[in-house]
Formats: sequence, structure tokens, C-alpha cells
Amino acid sequence: MRKKVTVVGSGNVGATAAHWIAAAELADVTLIDIIEGVPEGKGLDLLEAMPIIKKDSYVVGTENYADTANSDIVVITAGVPRKPGMSRDDLLNINHKIMKDVVGKVVQYSPDCILIIVSNPLDAMAQAAYKLSGFSRNRVIGMAGVLDSARFRAFVAQELKVSVENVTAFVLGGHGDTMVPLPRYSTVAGIPLPELMDKATIDRLVQRTRDGGAEIVKYLKTGSAYYAPSAAVTEMVEAILKDKKKILPCAAYLEGEYGINGLFVGVPCKLGSRGIEDVIQIRLTPEEQAALDKSAAAVKELVAVIGV
Ligand code: NAI
Ligand code: 2OP
Repeated sequence: MRKKVTVVGSGNVGATAAHWIAAAELADVTLIDIIEGVPEGKGLDLLEAMPIIKKDSYVVGTENYADTANSDIVVITAGVPRKPGMSRDDLLNINHKIMKDVVGKVVQYSPDCILIIVSNPLDAMAQAAYKLSGFSRNRVIGMAGVLDSARFRAFVAQELKVSVENVTAFVLGGHGDTMVPLPRYSTVAGIPLPELMDKATIDRLVQRTRDGGAEIVKYLKTGSAYYAPSAAVTEMVEAILKDKKKILPCAAYLEGEYGINGLFVGVPCKLGSRGIEDVIQIRLTPEEQAALDKSAAAVKELVAVIGV
């Protein structure tokens, strides 16, 4: 049976995610939005690209949730992106309202789906979606760590002039200024980063990773990053649809792992057909744990504001 992925929000991240997913022939894709004509136009345009790239993915756009029925995965990108000077957290109330509009309809038509949340502020929106959906925690996943660690990997590869394929990295914590890149667990061809770079260089790349979203917003001025975020979504979609059991950093609802309870925070997760099949616990130094706790506290503050 063919797989079906719905992408809610047909803007920059949503449409580009649909593009990557269809181009990789991972699933048929349904795009949905509230702006009349936009999902239909982008969906049709993508469908017409398929003969050229020789892929049989069916892509369609709609404003009607009935067309999203029985999706295996629903990716939620609906929301407002950052403008220069805006933090991810400024988006809190606007996007929470959108989440309330979207999640119930998604669940009504795809009660067995896995939700991948993208809208910002990411961890708080994932928590809102988790509560609104009533799904078990393995079926609500926030996308942030794959993006943040890809940024770190790109910067490390650029600095050392090595293939990005050689670089692995882990970024934990909330998707915000308090995210926690872990150089100790980041490697180049298996060699831990601190063996290859001095502390000042690592600190510079870590800071650039933390500021990665803002760096793009500063250039674009009217929106935020979307190529890397949508590629990150696609890696997660692939891991789930192909039941790859791939370990990726994702925002997950923690119930005591890493000493954090009742909160979405970025941690290493095993992704497979059941969604988050395991949360991998790695030993942190007291400094790393303190940084993760600080990041979790920042998420908790946001979650308290919207009461989820
Ligand atoms: P965009 O403005 O290009 O697209 C958002 C789309 O959502 C628009 O087409 C809009 O009409 C639609 N929308 C708004 N309300 C809706 C509703 N109730 N139902 C259906 N669709 C609705 O924004 P972009 O760049 O695609 O970003 C989307 C969200 O993803 C933003 O909140 C952004 O901050 C976030 N984001 C998160 C990342 C992460 O790492 N988690 C990375 C990049 C973006
Ligand atoms: C990013 O990190 C805006 O959260 C988005 O690019």
C-alpha cells in the first residue's frame, strides 16, 4: 500500500518538504493551507514535475481536511515564521492559536497518524499538539535537532575542509538560544571533535549553530530558513516510513529521561514505524546536564504561558 504524508501549511517549509518527500518517492503528498489556491497550485506544479524527475509520487493540494484522510504522517508547518528582530518565542501565542485550529481536524481524519511538528516555538508547539491530539507520546515528534545538528555538521565540515558525510553531531535541548550542542559526542570519521579543533574554534561554531536560524532570517528579511528545515523533516519521514530505527535528535515528550518530566525537549531518539521507539540516554557531564536543565527551564516557561 502506498504511503501518504500530509503537510499542513504550504508555505516555504511545507512546500519544500513536499518537494523533497515527493522527489525521494517516499510517499504521496497532500498539501493543505488556509490560503485558497496556494496548496492546489503548488501541489499541481509539483505533480507536473514528477514525469521530469521520473518519480511516481502523487501530489495534491487542498483546503479540505477530508482530503488528508488516512495519512501515515502529518507534518505541521502551519504558522507564522520569524521576521528580523523577532525571537521564536514571539511567535508563541499566534502559532498556538493556529495549532488549536489544525490539530483537531488532522486527528479527526487521520487518527492513526504520526505527527511531526515544525511550527515555532518548536518545543512548546509540539507540547500543544501532544495535548490537543491525545496521541501517545511516541506519535508526536518535534523537528529541531536534525536541523540544528545539520547546521553544526555543515560548519564543522567547512572549517576542517572535510566531507559532510564524515561529520556527525548531536545538539540537545530546546530549539532556541539555549540549545545544547555536544562537541564531545560530535565526531569526524569517528574522531571526537575536541581532538581536531581547539576550544575557541569549537565555541565559535557552537555559537554560530545557536544563531543559525537568526543568521538566515537576517539575510532573508521577510522569512526564515526552509531548505535545511524541510530536508530535516524529510529525513525523519524516511526513518519512520522505512522503519529504519534511525537515531536522530528530536523533540520528545520526556517522562523522567534526563531528569526531565512532562516536557518536550530535544534528545536522541530512535525513529521507526511506531514513531519514537526509544529515547536514548547518554551520560552527560555536570556542565552539559546543567545546560540541558537550563534549556528545559526555558521551554517550561513558554509552555506555562500557553497552559499546555
Ligand atoms: P510560511 O509563512 O512560508 O508558511 C506558513 C504557512 O502556514 C502559510 O502558507 C500560511 O498560510 C499557513 N497557515 C497559517 N495558518 C494556517 C492554518 N490555520 N491552517 C493551515 N495553514 C495555515 O512559513 P515557513 O517558513 O514555512 O515556516 C512555518 C513555521 O515553521 C514557522 O512557525 C517557522 O517559525 C517554523 N520553522 C521551524 C523550524 C524548526 O526547526 N522547527 C525551522 C523553520 C521554520
Ligand atoms: C530556524 O532555526 C526559524 O526555527 C527556525 O531556522
